Amino acid sequence: MSKSILILKASPRERGNSALLASQAAEGARQAGAVVESIYLHSLDIRPCDACDLCRENDGECVIQDDMQILYPKLRAANAILIATPVYWFTLSAQAKLFIDRWYALLGEKPNPLRGKRFALLLSYGDSDLQTSGGIHALHTFEHMVTYLRGEMVGCVHASADNPGDVLNQPALLDEAFRLGHFFFECCSVHREEHTLGHCPIYHHHLCPGLLLYWRVERTYRRPVETLASRLLLARSHL
Ligand SMILES: Cc1cc2nc3c(=O)[nH]c(=O)nc-3n(C[C@H](O)[C@H](O)[C@H](O)COP(=O)(O)O)c2cc1C
Repeated sequence: MSKSILILKASPRERGNSALLASQAAEGARQAGAVVESIYLHSLDIRPCDACDLCRENDGECVIQDDMQILYPKLRAANAILIATPVYWFTLSAQAKLFIDRWYALLGEKPNPLRGKRFALLLSYGDSDLQTSGGIHALHTFEHMVTYLRGEMVGCVHASADNPGDVLNQPALLDEAFRLGHFFFECCSVHREEHTLGHCPIYHHHLCPGLLLYWRVERTYRRPVETLASRLLLARSHL
């Protein structure tokens, strides 16, 4: 499988916490042989979607002449898309949301060119956890979006880190972001249902890296940790 990852950094802080997580994921992906391109969205001219629906008549071509015209071909070409964003007002940053709104144009192309791509989310927030920070809303929004696009959600790494660079004091999270990048194309997210039964059909054991990343999120907000898989994972928290 070709491995190219497009990383979109959606904080105004170029070296902020989400960007640092993104660098780790990029390094992990490169070490796994992927071609990685990172883009700092805040420096680009990205205008809001006009809802003109001309993209529906133009096979998915957006008529707004701004920097999205550079990003559309990159989105089409990438095998995987990773968004790194701070939590702003209990959800994604405006930079991330503006950019994602403009994906609407791509739905004018049949089939939608984002279908089947892999997606992941990196989040940083000032509050203490995914719930109180509102990171949970960012994650839900992203997951709904990926499901709607018929993409594959690979994982989410989220960090409580407020001042720029705070995340550097959390080596376990940096490692998690690295592993997310490293295992991006190995995680068998397509088999999520089997995962929930505690079996990974690719790894044939219970320590599929994608499963590990997912269970950290599951433990945080989805349901009590009850299954055989999660008991095993708790017993062996890292690879
Ligand atoms: C405009 C703004 C809104 C914010 N809203 C939230 C919020 O709703 N919840 C939260 O936990 N932190 C919030 N924060 C704190 C940031 O999420 C936090 O500083 C984060 O680490 C920034 O990531 P970055 O370093 O990648 O920019 C906000 C910060 C700003 C500037």
